[in-house]
Amino acid sequence: MQNRANPTTQRLEIWLTPTYKTTKASEVDTLLYMSSIPSKVVGGSTYLTVDVLPYLDGERAVRVQEAELLAQVKRHDQFNLVRIDDTGQSIALLNYPEFVDDPFPSLQESWRVDLSCSTVSYRTYADSLNPPILHRKELLLQPDDPRREAYAELTRTAESIGLFDDPRRIGYQRQWLALIREKGYRIEGHSLVPIGNDESLEDGEADLAPLHADWEASRHLTALVRYGFSAPVQSLARYGFFDGSHRLFDYGCGRGDDVRGLSENGLSATGWDPYFAPDNTISSADIVNLGFVINVIEDFDERVEALTRAWSLAERVLVVSVMLENQNDPRGQRFRDGVMTLRGTFQKYFTQSGIKTFLEQVLDEEPIPVAPGVLYLFRDKDMEQRFLMDRYHRSCIASPVTSTKSFPTILSRLPLRRHWKGSSYSTCQVMGLCRASLFRRWRKTDWPSINLH
Ligand SMILES: C[S@@+](CC[C@H](N)C(=O)[O-])C[C@H]1O[C@@H](n2cnc3c(N)ncnc32)[C@H](O)[C@@H]1O
Repeated sequence: MQNRANPTTQRLEIWLTPTYKTTKASEVDTLLYMSSIPSKVVGGSTYLTVDVLPYLDGERAVRVQEAELLAQVKRHDQFNLVRIDDTGQSIALLNYPEFVDDPFPSLQESWRVDLSCSTVSYRTYADSLNPPILHRKELLLQPDDPRREAYAELTRTAESIGLFDDPRRIGYQRQWLALIREKGYRIEGHSLVPIGNDESLEDGEADLAPLHADWEASRHLTALVRYGFSAPVQSLARYGFFDGSHRLFDYGCGRGDDVRGLSENGLSATGWDPYFAPDNTISSADIVNLGFVINVIEDFDERVEALTRAWSLAERVLVVSVMLENQNDPRGQRFRDGVMTLRGTFQKYFTQSGIKTFLEQVLDEEPIPVAPGVLYLFRDKDMEQRFLMDRYHRSCIASPVTSTKSFPTILSRLPLRRHWKGSSYSTCQVMGLCRASLFRRWRKTDWPSINLH
């Protein structure tokens, strides 16, 4: 097993692990030991895969074996995860059959063993309509596991769109899927992709559109009836752009649901759409939203025109969103650089780097990706600096700094640079910022008195 010989790196990893911020002082020893093994801590209980059980220390290994004997089940065959509570007396043997394929696997069955009184309780979720689910799978994998990066990327995206903001809504499948939809996303494999267009098609609804060079897409058919704000508008809300001081213009607003929702919330928002709102005034605004428009335009020059027009209207920031490539792209024929769909619409599926390059090349500006398929371009460079600082602050301060409150308690001092020497560049950056922030926030004499909660 790799990385066991480097407790410093492991300790840094656990400091940066979001679950750690809920840790009590009495659990620190257990955690420091367990941190040498890929594991996830939730509410004082530690989750491990059966693959790492051989690396458990003698006492814990014996307890898991006892639990297996009492429950009369075999690791790998009947369960693939183990949950050990902080006393080590209660052990749950958990079966997540889709652990590898499902980005948020659901629990199918569990055996809870209470070693103090040798009892076993079995529960099945096989027929459940709303089973418990698992997040942050990467924490359970070895550092060199090839799947780890994809899982970690999914977690980062989920964090960036606010899926973990309310822990009460993440534990069970139905609430979780509803939450993802509410945020304007859906799951594709191990990715979260924005819900940008309506490409659903009933069987037999449309014949395949004729393929010829001057075919024109029915662009209006791509506009969704939205039941919540679109992903780009939600991203603006998350980054605090809706404090009442900014006007928004929605260029290519479709059916206008974002504009309506913002106006109903007392914000200044207007929009224009060549099909749904052609008579509305096209006006400039602090924020211009170009949401899922350029990906429905089949003509390259028109795409460029829509983008440059939207940019010309943006006094402070332009938000561009597009559909991203995924394996479930709608059926249809290739047409130019995209797909002509069965319902006569066009879709250009971008990669995240492809849309960034396109924006750079057309506008000669540096776009800032903020979520999958969503990018900001700032005309107001002061605002851009504030945004970047704030975002840095959120990523370094909001989660890791909360967890860094435990640094002084564990070490009775702040981590030194040499503690993260050898870690990745981003870890060094994060640690440096955390350290700087701690210096700003607390006097040295305060450290020993800082509570974990
Ligand atoms: C997928 S819908 C997105 C609508 C809305 N922004 C949303 O996110 O719900 C694409 C919209 O782009 C509009 N559109 C098509 N060509 C356009 C153009 N050249 N300029 C502006 N909007 C355009 C269509 O009428 C359609 O309403």
